[in-house]
Formats: sequence, C-alpha cells, structure tokens
Amino acid sequence: MPRRLLLLLLVTLRLSPAQDPELTVDSPGRVLRLSFLLDQGEAKYRLLRHGREVIEPSRLGFVLRGLDPLDREFKLVSHEIREFRETWTQPWGEKREILNHYRELRVDLVRESLAPLRLTLVFRVSDDGLGFRYVMPEQPGLDSFVIMDEVTEFTFTNDHTTWWIPAYFWNRYEYLYRRSPLSEIDTVHTPVTMESENGLCLSIHEAALTNFASMTLARKSGLVLEADLVPWSDGVKVRALAPMYSPWRTIQVADSPGGLITSYLVLNLNEPNRLEDVSWIEPGKYVGIWWEMHLGLSTWGRGSRHGATTEKAKYYIDFAAKHGFGGVLVEGWNIGWDGDWLENCELMRFTETSEDFNPPEVAEYARVRGTRLIGHHETGGGVGNYEEQMTEAFAYYEDLGVRAVKTGYVNHARGIPRIDENGVEQGEWHHGQFMVRHYRKAVEEAARHRIMLDVHEPIKDTGIRRTYPNMMTREGARGQEFNAWDPGGGNPPEHTTILPFTRMLAGPMDFTPGIFDLLFEEARPDNRVSTTLAKQLALYVVLYSPLQMAADLPENYEARPGPFRFVRDVPVDWNDTRVLHGEIGDCITIVRQGRHSEDWYLGSITDEESRLLEAQLSFLDPNRTWVAEIYRDGTGAHWRDNPYDMEMQSLPVDHTTVLPLRLAPGGGQAIRFRPAED
Ligand code: NOJ
Ligand code: CA
Repeated sequence: MPRRLLLLLLVTLRLSPAQDPELTVDSPGRVLRLSFLLDQGEAKYRLLRHGREVIEPSRLGFVLRGLDPLDREFKLVSHEIREFRETWTQPWGEKREILNHYRELRVDLVRESLAPLRLTLVFRVSDDGLGFRYVMPEQPGLDSFVIMDEVTEFTFTNDHTTWWIPAYFWNRYEYLYRRSPLSEIDTVHTPVTMESENGLCLSIHEAALTNFASMTLARKSGLVLEADLVPWSDGVKVRALAPMYSPWRTIQVADSPGGLITSYLVLNLNEPNRLEDVSWIEPGKYVGIWWEMHLGLSTWGRGSRHGATTEKAKYYIDFAAKHGFGGVLVEGWNIGWDGDWLENCELMRFTETSEDFNPPEVAEYARVRGTRLIGHHETGGGVGNYEEQMTEAFAYYEDLGVRAVKTGYVNHARGIPRIDENGVEQGEWHHGQFMVRHYRKAVEEAARHRIMLDVHEPIKDTGIRRTYPNMMTREGARGQEFNAWDPGGGNPPEHTTILPFTRMLAGPMDFTPGIFDLLFEEARPDNRVSTTLAKQLALYVVLYSPLQMAADLPENYEARPGPFRFVRDVPVDWNDTRVLHGEIGDCITIVRQGRHSEDWYLGSITDEESRLLEAQLSFLDPNRTWVAEIYRDGTGAHWRDNPYDMEMQSLPVDHTTVLPLRLAPGGGQAIRFRPAED
C-alpha cells in the first residue's frame, strides 16, 4: 500500500478574470519553479531551475475540429495549489521504494468570447522535473470532440546538444540515435535528451499515454519544439470524449546525465497499480529458440530447418533448468509463418500449432523441470486478425501454464491495416491513437489471463507499468538483433552508451544481451557483435529489464562457463540503482543492489574509446567486508580484433575501496559484490 505522508491544500484563490496573473509554484526542495501565465489571453508556462530559465514562456493549447483554436482568449477562473508526498513500493523494478513528492498547480480557464469553453491545466513540479496535462471537463456541447492539433511548445534557452531519433519513418523507433545541436533536429520521438553547455541535462517525454496519440516533437523554429501528435490515417490526431485527461507532458531536469536515470518522474505521474493480485508477476531471465533464427541457422516457418520443434524446445528447457533460467521462449511454433508472413499477417493463428511442435508436451516438460514456456504472438502488424483471436490466444497460454508472452508488430512500410467506416483499408502508424488503444487492450487482456508482456515493436513506454505491473518490458529501439543481420553492420560500440540516457529513460528494454559467440563467422560472415565479451556481461546491469534474455545459443554458453557464471548470477529485480559515471554516448557505470540478497552488481561500458574509470565503493555496507567477483577486459582486449580477451578475478573490498575500471575500446566490466562470509 502506498504510504501517503502528506496531502495538504495550501491555497485556493480566485482572481478576477480581468487580471493577467503569473502563478508560480516551487518544487518541494525549491529546485524548480513553474510559472503559469496568461499572455494577452494565451496560456503559457515557463520553468526555472535555481532561478535560471530552463524553458522560456511557451504556448499551451489545442486546435479542435469545427471550433476556433483553443489557445487564445483565455481567462482565469480559479486556481489551486496543493502539496503531495508519498512513498510507494514497486512490485518489481530498478528501485524498490519510490518517493513521489510534488507541488501541484491546477488552473481553470474559460474562453468566453466565442462559444464558452472550459479547460483545466494541471502542473506537478518536483525537484527532478515537471509534468503537466490538459483536462477537458464535461461541459455543454462538448460530449465528444476531435483534436486536430496540440500546440504545446517547449522553448529552450540555448542550442543544446541533443540526442534523438527521427519520427515518421517506417522502422518505428529502430534507428541509431543522432547527436546534433537542437537547431538541427527535425521531428523526433520522445524521450529526447539534451545537454546544455553548462552541463544541465533535460529529457522531454510523456507519462501515462492512454487513449491518445503519442507525442512527437517538431522543431517549429530556432529553439522551439512543438508537440506533434501522431495522426490517424484521416489526419485526425485524437478522437476524445469529455472529460478528457491528456497524457502528462514531462520535462526532467538534472545536473548530470545520470540524474536523469535515477529520476522516477514518469512513473510517479502514472496511476497506482490497478491489478489487485500481483503474486503471479515474477521478473526473471529467459533463453529461447530465437537467436538461431536471426542468424539464419533455422527458420520461423515450417520445413526441414524449422526452429521450433518439440525436440529443440526440450534441449533449451534442459539447458534452462540446469542453469536456473525461469523461462524458455519459443518463436515460430504456431501456424502462419510459412512464406511471407508480413504480407500474409492475417493468416497468423495463435492457437494452432505446426505438426512438429506439441505445446502441452513442451509446457509440461518445462514445468516439471522448474522452468516455463514463454509464449509468442507475432502479429506481423495484423492487428485486426490478432484482436479477433486475442482472448482465446491468451486463454490458450494460460491453460498451458504460460506466464509471459512476447508480442510483436513487425510491419511493412504500408502501416497497420485498419478497415475504416467505409470498408476501405487504411494504414495506421504504430504510434497513433488507434494503436495506443490496441496496445493497452493487449495489456488488459493479458492481465485477465495472468500473463506478463514483453512487447516488440511497441508503443514507447510512458510508465504504465506502475498501473499495469504485468507490462514488463519492451523493445522500441535497435536491440541486439541488428547485430545479426543489419546490412549497415549492426550497432556501433557507442549505441549502448546512448540508450540508457535516451530510450531507457522511458522504461525497461528487452535488448537481449549476452551474445558470447561475437563473430558467428560461419552463420553470418558479414555481421558481428561490435563489443568485447566483458561488455556483453556488463549490459545485464546497465540495460535494465525485468525480463532479461540470455540471447545466445546454449552451446555458446557451455563453451565459456567462466563468464557464463555472471549471466547466471545477475538478478533482474533491484532494491536500488545508482549511476557512478555517465557521459552520454561515451560511457556509463551503474550499480544496483538485488532484491533477494545483499549483493550489489556493477556494469560499466564504454564506446569505441578505451577508458580508465574509478569506482568508489561507498555504496557497500560499511559493517561488512566484501568480495568483488570481477569480469573485465583483458589488457589486449579490443572489440575489433580481440573481443574475447577477458580476465576474471576475486578481490576483497570494502566501502572505502576505490576500484579502477579499465575498459577496452568497445569494452566493459561486470562485477558482483557479495558479503565475504557467504
Ligand atoms: C522482431 C522482434 O524484435 C524479434 O525479437 C522477433 O524474433 C521477430 N520480430 C519475429 O517475431
Ligand atoms: Ca524489432
């Protein structure tokens, strides 16, 4: 149960509508100050940090179909400020106890000149950032309405260095992050990350994206970004009913890149857990019949090289049981994969199996060995076909004792097919309101069947795991799979030093780390993984996911039992997370304490440059002595020509130790700290 420590109404004030006031509210620790102003009837906000402007006065509002734009001729009706503080417990996560402490300003506006319209703005400001949302209250003549545009602006003070991926490209979020001055970006997805000249770090995103279009950001002019809602195929942005609560627009502000990672603003702006019983929700590690298809060693479709056979599944299950993995993913077991499954996505059958795979037998084989089958629903973007079968498909897995399902929405450039009101097929974006509704429907349906989700080609995370803790993890960026087949050579070494400061500010990612055969010269001579082996281990700590894959083939782990030990040991559920070093696109060191023991784990990674960092071990309990089990790059290691060079060493350490972290080009280091007496 969340502990509500303080719920205080500070002030309620009514001003005469003639005034043009500036209303301000400080964050509880007085780090940030939010101001709301009416500038000749235009609603605006601005944000200061320690007295310095972070966001200059920026416009707020909407354009509704058939009405004059809802962004001018506003008058203030009333406002209210309150403070809220609670500490709530994540059922699983990167940190157990989360402090949610903010001051809220609620502003009721009316536009009286034309047809009267009421609009409410809610701002919540905490020391680590600002969230604000629009509320369209119930009012005469506005039961249902259509949003054609949102005009929320973010006006920055300088030409900050910005890390971004482009919006409105066919491959969804699966692009390499680019770094450029703010003034050179186009239309981008969120989270988008910025760093100012004096080291202030910003992340713009949204929280609690529910029954709305997702927000991209278009550069309007100079240093101004404007909300750009992903439209339906007919150009409408949002079809809404009053009362309407928009997602929260979020601005996280920190004085270091790592401060963005340990800000829980996005989660805090989401509603508390709605699932009463969460006893069936268990984070865990998994293996699966997966990488071999990406390497082209076997196929999703049926035939002589079919990957998902009963026999193969038993081989993976034996491996999982032997090494303590909680799940075994099997892809390509159901009917629908033969031929061009993207083109023929409506042929996917989610409860019908190929002849060489026996689901009950495999599920039972796993269960008696203490592991579980992980299900797979690849829709190929055929969302109508999937929705027709969805209830049955989750029920089918539930009956088999399956607790986690990976879903997928790979799709050709034509978009997600939707039959419109006139019976005509339209192509929808993955990130518009149509699909936002679908993704949520899947989360709710899965929860009804006590199933956890791992969504590939997802809608971006906006923290809904707080409300639906069965929404475990998702893809939504370039994962490991690109290293298997990307014609451009896969992910460069710096990719994983950018992800924690960009994509992963949204939430967990199913990156699928742990490739041990880095070169796979026979399977794919033109591709490889551009890291050292030690870096693959470090990714388990750096890239948080409550469902974390050991992605390589069992035989590649068996061949390297030393480093594999770390993959077996590392937890996926944490008490606490701290960032020891963080330079966006250069390096990052994270330490996390597991939930089920006192052990701490460290992951440190670098881009293509070698680095010598120092880890202060002051996070360790000072009343104990500790053993550091170290997995580091060898002195001659280099991602390009010596990626397997690795050293393992056990060292006594304590909270005063300063450990040198030597990272090779494209390298990393992973450490387990355990109490010495264990
Ligand atoms: C793309 C997903 O990212 C990948 O993990 C999956 O194997 C394929 N789609 C097939 O479903
Ligand atoms: Ca993918």
